[in-house]
Amino acid sequence: MSRFWPRRKDDHMPSRSGRWARVAPLLALVVVVTLLAGCGPEVNQPYSTISPQNPKTDDIQRLYQIIFWASLVVFVGVQLAIVYVVLRFRRRSDERPAQVHGSRTLEIAWTVIPAVILILLFIPTARVVFDHAAAAQSDEGFHVNVIAKQWWWEITYPNIPASESDPSKGPLVTANEMLVPVGSDVIVSLEGNNVMHSFWVPQLSGKLDVMPGHVNRLHFEAARVGDYFGECAEYCGAAHAWMRFKVKIVPQEEFDAWVAAWRTPPADQNPDTPDVVDVPTAFGACLACHRVNGTTAQVAGQGMTAISGYRDADGKIVPGPGPNLTLVGCRDTIAAGLLKNTPENMETWLKHTDEVKEGVYMPNYYKQGLTDEQVTEIVNYLEGLKPAEGCPGAGLPVGSEVDPASVGVIPPGAVATPVP
Ligand code: CUA
Repeated sequence: MSRFWPRRKDDHMPSRSGRWARVAPLLALVVVVTLLAGCGPEVNQPYSTISPQNPKTDDIQRLYQIIFWASLVVFVGVQLAIVYVVLRFRRRSDERPAQVHGSRTLEIAWTVIPAVILILLFIPTARVVFDHAAAAQSDEGFHVNVIAKQWWWEITYPNIPASESDPSKGPLVTANEMLVPVGSDVIVSLEGNNVMHSFWVPQLSGKLDVMPGHVNRLHFEAARVGDYFGECAEYCGAAHAWMRFKVKIVPQEEFDAWVAAWRTPPADQNPDTPDVVDVPTAFGACLACHRVNGTTAQVAGQGMTAISGYRDADGKIVPGPGPNLTLVGCRDTIAAGLLKNTPENMETWLKHTDEVKEGVYMPNYYKQGLTDEQVTEIVNYLEGLKPAEGCPGAGLPVGSEVDPASVGVIPPGAVATPVP
């Protein structure tokens, strides 16, 4: 005992730091085991990187497993070697041990063995990286263009016209929730128009940077019906943490119904809902940045035409083109995945915009003079932007079993938890 613990005067017990040194590794082991036990697929967290939901993420999962087991073998080997050396060469007498300088055999061994391990890990990793990149270059498949903005996602379907009869209306555009038909090979073309972002849906694909002025492409299989959560994975400014989105994999007929509903002007799909037929006057200001299909005012920019908002030389916020609000009543979330889409949260969002999402470029018009009645009118209008018979795809089983608690619900009037 005395050999290991520095002895204090008149004290045969180990010192406090000595006791900690003995307990700390045990505690660390307990923590690691507990954490590992908590990340099994049973828990199925929506942002988990180890609950793959298609062949693409199965490939990635297999790489994790290879690297995990290789690391475990190395870890155990190194620990055993340390324990052996500590016991075998512990001090037995006051005699000075033989002094050795260098060992060519050892040095070659501890250079060659790690190099071989790294090469063995590199081969399957490179194969997956190149296979995935090649699959994303195909012209076949279901194409979606995504433009990352501060701090939301504009989603365009280049092969689906916004209007069947009028090609000048361009492609169908939505925001923050990407619907795709089950069974399709989805190819996402990613582009940014101001800063760098990163597109990541952990259960469906790897992570890919979104660059201004350069298109990156990503491929994933829409294998199982369900909701899959994604988020921006590259720090991109104040509201980076609130730049979430969803991929909703739905049956083909639900997807077709969604496209048909998107193309139907609100007044036609809700002929008995006065809130929707008569666009509230106060909503006019919103149309400078937002579009609603079927509304005559279509002035707001889309695509790469303008940035999503900026601060001018005096630091004043200048709003830019915002999310396309067609069918917004059917979205699960608002404010880029930050709040559940309920009338209460929509009201909170309109009244506390900049408190709920710090840095946001949408002005708080309530603070600038909208009345409570006008806010209610806008809330009713927006929540009414959905087919009278209900939303396509609503009530489908959630494939990734998303924990509802992972989407915030903020009571009216309350303020969102500040981002730490
Ligand atoms: Cu966009 Cu982080």
